[in-house]
Amino acid sequence: MVHAFRHRGAAEALAAALPAGGVAVTADLRAPDAGVRLYGALGPLGAEVDGLVHAAASFHRGGLCELAAGEWDEIHALNLRAFALLAERMLAARGSRGGDLVAIGDAAGLELWPSYLAHSVAKAGLLALVRTLAKGMAPAFRVNAVVPGPVLPPDGTTAEQAATYARRTLLQRIGRPEDVAEAVAYLLGARFVTGAVLPVTGGSELWRGQPRI
Ligand SMILES: NC(=O)c1ccc[n+]([C@@H]2O[C@H](COP(=O)([O-])OP(=O)(O)OC[C@H]3O[C@@H](n4cnc5c(N)ncnc54)[C@H](OP(=O)(O)O)[C@@H]3O)[C@@H](O)[C@H]2O)c1
Repeated sequence: MVHAFRHRGAAEALAAALPAGGVAVTADLRAPDAGVRLYGALGPLGAEVDGLVHAAASFHRGGLCELAAGEWDEIHALNLRAFALLAERMLAARGSRGGDLVAIGDAAGLELWPSYLAHSVAKAGLLALVRTLAKGMAPAFRVNAVVPGPVLPPDGTTAEQAATYARRTLLQRIGRPEDVAEAVAYLLGARFVTGAVLPVTGGSELWRGQPRI
């Protein structure tokens, strides 16, 4: 099952390309009943979800004096609460048969960026949620997180800015979507790993103060 919000056509193309076959569904994951509706779409297909990857998120700029209350709610509903509501649906559907969940965090949730305040706090909360669910849903379910650093810079990023992001990693490049996908695939298959938070950042969190030896 490939979920989309605005880009249904892309989700349909991906679902059609999957060797085992797939189905595209659309839902606004800010809605409290989105998980119920997504799982409802599985019923007629006779399909079940035994692995769930939560990548949907917004990337909303705004500091303390720039965020309206409604923006806090929307950002947290999508970037944080949606994962809990999907996990609850998966638990209800799979019970003791269990499954694997992977949340996509953001280096902003580790580094805590004041100018992306609600985003950073939601992504920090997502990592706490992952570790809490790993405890609460064990042993049937494994719950892990991948934390990308600079991968696909936002629209409007200049070549100079992208080069700066690359320089501020130990590996001296920005990431590729494949780097994130590899880490997700690893966690989905890592049978003795749960509650893990795996940075896919090129070492950006260790970059500062890197001695030149
Ligand atoms: N790009 C990076 O360098 C980077 C760095 C760190 C972390 N991340 C994390 O990696 C993940 C993917 O990032 P990305 O760069 O691919 O982001 P993106 O291009 O903005 O994609 C975000 C995804 O979220 C979906 N979405 C947006 N609003 C939604 C809503 N209200 N309900 C349901 N789905 C919604 C979008 O679906 P539609 O396209 O169908 O609307 C899209 O698939 C995110 O969790 C992000 O925080 C990315």
